[in-house]
Amino acid sequence: MGDGGKWVRAAAVGELAEGAMKPVELEGRSLALYHLADGTWCASDNLCTHAFALLTEGWLEGCVIECPLHSGRFDLRTGAGQGAPIEDDLAVYAVRVEGDDVLVQVPAV
Ligand code: FES
Repeated sequence: MGDGGKWVRAAAVGELAEGAMKPVELEGRSLALYHLADGTWCASDNLCTHAFALLTEGWLEGCVIECPLHSGRFDLRTGAGQGAPIEDDLAVYAVRVEGDDVLVQVPAV
């Protein structure tokens, strides 16, 4: 993370309330953008690492996203899986706010 990716606008700051999330397509990738309840922004792949499910259809609790399909959980600050059935961590991306824009750093393909 943070090594030379391209910063891409993902949303306007006002688009997502705290505690909300949404799917975003950036540079051909399906990502999820999260505005955590503490005001922090996070971004990750939207596809669960366990099977085919979109994390933005799950539940956001603090900094943890819970998958809608088998209730796997990931810590969005690190992408770390939080136990079974998750075996592979989730890719997470750097986010920064510039004025009214929320930018996500998308790695080069
Ligand atoms: S698909 Fe996400 S926990 Fe199974």
